[in-house]
Amino acid sequence: MNKIAIAKGDGIGPEIMDAVLTIFQAAGVPLEYEVVEMGKWVFDRGFSNGMTPEAQQTIEKLGILFKGPMETPKGKGVKSVNVTARKTWNTYANKRTFQTLHGVDTVFSKAGIPIDITIVRENIEDTYGGVEHLLTHDVALSRRFITRPGSMQVIKYAFEMARKKNARRITCGHKANIMKLTDGLFLEVFYEVAKEYPELKADDVIVDDLCMKLVSRPDLFDVVVLTNLQGDIVSDLCAGLVGGLGFAPSANIGDHISIFEAVHGTAPDIAGKNIANPTALLLSGFAMLRHLGLMEVAAVLENALLYTLESGKHTGDFGSKTDQPLSTTAFAQAIIDNIGKIPEHQPKPILPNQPPTPTHFKLAANPMLESADHLQVSIVGVDMFIESNLQPTAVAEKCLQHTGELFKLVTISNRGTQVWPKGSSFTNLVNQYGCRFECVGDVPLTQVDILELYRRLMQDFKICSTELLNQWGDKKAYSLAQGQ
Ligand code: NAI
Repeated sequence: MNKIAIAKGDGIGPEIMDAVLTIFQAAGVPLEYEVVEMGKWVFDRGFSNGMTPEAQQTIEKLGILFKGPMETPKGKGVKSVNVTARKTWNTYANKRTFQTLHGVDTVFSKAGIPIDITIVRENIEDTYGGVEHLLTHDVALSRRFITRPGSMQVIKYAFEMARKKNARRITCGHKANIMKLTDGLFLEVFYEVAKEYPELKADDVIVDDLCMKLVSRPDLFDVVVLTNLQGDIVSDLCAGLVGGLGFAPSANIGDHISIFEAVHGTAPDIAGKNIANPTALLLSGFAMLRHLGLMEVAAVLENALLYTLESGKHTGDFGSKTDQPLSTTAFAQAIIDNIGKIPEHQPKPILPNQPPTPTHFKLAANPMLESADHLQVSIVGVDMFIESNLQPTAVAEKCLQHTGELFKLVTISNRGTQVWPKGSSFTNLVNQYGCRFECVGDVPLTQVDILELYRRLMQDFKICSTELLNQWGDKKAYSLAQGQ
């Protein structure tokens, strides 16, 4: 029998997890559980990543974590245990399925518009690295990592999943019109992978337009793949389309370890009252059962849930306002009572069990993800981000004194907008400038040349940060300033 790790979580976590495990037990789900220590009370005991070393060991041994929501203590400088878990174990694809559920009234269900959208959100990169610095007392900077291998992993997963579910369409949501290098890379990888799946209709939509289209014609979408932050926002939007967070399941899929949890948080406002809706965690549990190849019991239980919803049974967060809502435990019992019943709408076919998705490999070392293509790299300049409250021309005058023979000052920008050599006096300034120095002629620079420029420039300015300007073959590996 398969054994999985369980972390009940904080707030409503233990209530909804107990409800789900009671339903699993009633259906004879063939799983053993090992409860691990993760969450707020583990932070409180002094474990700064929110989990005990034993919990980490158990999860790495078993390969599957089924978890309730967990609270991140505020203002203690600690990082979210949820994000830490997803990143530590490289669960690179966050799959969230949003479907019309009969019995859960929404604007769209009332209008007869069916929804069946799967969001695949990249789960490791983007601003979720949380690599942030205050460069001056006024200027905070967040680094946004989008990598080719990271994008490749999640996009390949999305296409493979779309193929298995015979998707009508797979769409990449992005903002590559603005973030040309980061989102541009994600989009480029999307179309590269699309070539291997000619039977799937692959297209892309800019994320703001995507939001507008999702709330007006959600039935036109099937699988949507996005970077981390945009995926986070768009998936909550999709939760709203199908009735709210109580119906939003999530699977964090990796090659070795996978985590199944609801999208919602710990709901502190209703914790301990036995009124939370366990459906999102239950739906996440069905995804886990299918991941483990337990197709039959997953379908039987999903039919019991759909039947229960159809029959009008509900917790306080949805359904009729005139009849009495059920408690968490009573709602779970209603589902148990309906095991074996078939819903009228969209019953799930009872499929034979399949071999489980392989989990818990032993890894001797950290996998290094690296692309095969190595174009020749040359350093053609440097961006020096300096602190100054001088006007642009005064900054330029000082910079020009330090260019020496190897560098020319090409542009000065403030918050990414060019303010020198051309600019507008209407552009507001903050006390941090980006000064771009490029090499004179075609002779590439060395890091020692950059260091020499740094030494000269720091006589006049505090340098907050620097970025090399690289060129791969003919391709400039940096963006231009707005207006440059
Ligand atoms: P939340 O999702 O906990 O609550 C938002 C609203 O939805 C509340 O009104 C809540 O009562 C309601 N709600 C959520 N789940 C429900 C359910 N199953 N049944 C009925 N109503 C439900 O979001 P919030 O308040 O922003 O976050 C609370 C805490 O949860 C924070 O500490 C946050 O860091 C954490 N969190 C944890 C997540 C995870 O473990 N994956 C995800 C999101 C937040």
